[in-house]
Amino acid sequence: EKGGYEHFMLKEIFEQPKSIHDTLRGRLLVDEGIIKMAGIWDHLERLNKAERIVIIACGTSWHAGLIGEYLIEEFARIPVEVEYASEFRYRNPIITNKDVVIAISQSGETADTMAAIKLAKEKGAFVYGICNVVDSSISRFTDGGSYTHAGPEIGVASTKAFTSQLTILSLIALKLGKHNGNLSNVEFMRLITELDALPKKVEEVLATTHDLVKEIAKDFVGAQNFLYLGRGYNFPAALEGALKLKEISYIHAEGYPAAEMKHGPIALIDENMPIVIIAPKQGHYDKVVSNVQEIKARKGKIIALVNKGDVQVSNMADYVIEFPETSECFSPIIASVPLQLLAYYIAVYRGANVDQPRNLAKSVTVE
Ligand code: F6R
Repeated sequence: EKGGYEHFMLKEIFEQPKSIHDTLRGRLLVDEGIIKMAGIWDHLERLNKAERIVIIACGTSWHAGLIGEYLIEEFARIPVEVEYASEFRYRNPIITNKDVVIAISQSGETADTMAAIKLAKEKGAFVYGICNVVDSSISRFTDGGSYTHAGPEIGVASTKAFTSQLTILSLIALKLGKHNGNLSNVEFMRLITELDALPKKVEEVLATTHDLVKEIAKDFVGAQNFLYLGRGYNFPAALEGALKLKEISYIHAEGYPAAEMKHGPIALIDENMPIVIIAPKQGHYDKVVSNVQEIKARKGKIIALVNKGDVQVSNMADYVIEFPETSECFSPIIASVPLQLLAYYIAVYRGANVDQPRNLAKSVTVE
């Protein structure tokens, strides 16, 4: 059932060209120039009239929510806040019937997320669900929603569900923006064409980085800490990269927006600190270059994720992983793949139980 792979996690990492394609299938109709989503269409007015969208989720789904914030604010120009479900539910949040709450959950069973949805509904919000498991509790309890259709995810560490969540959030943001007039037709067409190319690019990044990342991982089996840095859309991707590493390899890792380094974490950097930097060409590249210079000056071990043909960051890096270029807003979908592989191989070399990490469960049904 693992289809020849050693672990479900590796199988699911490799399924991503297909799972992203499945998320897009029947929804993204590039030739007709439309995004067809019944869940959004049925509630379009409610969603586009929202005074505010509040995204609630836990863990990896919360990271997807952070990228959702960037997407929806950029393309639909609706104010968005992202909150951990466990915090939202206990702090008497200000929610009214003019708000829309988007709940993101792979399993659709997470106790804190469910409780946060109940609270939001009581306060009159319209609640939209993004779930992977069909007919799960959250998908049944929400007022509307979209399934990610990534297929069953068995590995405890979320991989393909995450990239499908990013894909569905991209579709939602672009559809809202198109209908509320914030996104021009030309821009909409350019972006959906990029979106359509993602399954192929994810296939390419798997093919071109797998062996290399597997080699790089060997050098970090004994690492005790890791930093993950990114800016813009890739700041949440850095958080997610760090979470993947800590949950399956048990190495302490933290993600930061690259510019936050100088406000504290830079004190941690010496020749023993591995630092993963996500630095695509599109997305504050020059700013990231100067962040990398600061790290280089302090002798940190730099593992750089860059686009093909990159020179500046690559010249300063100890390890270079190239990935195909896309619009900044979609780059976390591609950049996350080598980060998943890096976490996976470091964990495998450490002899960890990758599919069943200690202390973790696939679906967290207790708060
Ligand atoms: C990380 C991971 C967890 C889940 C979190 C939320 O790899 O799997 O952090 O993302 O428990 O789960 P769902 O999305 O099922 O609500």
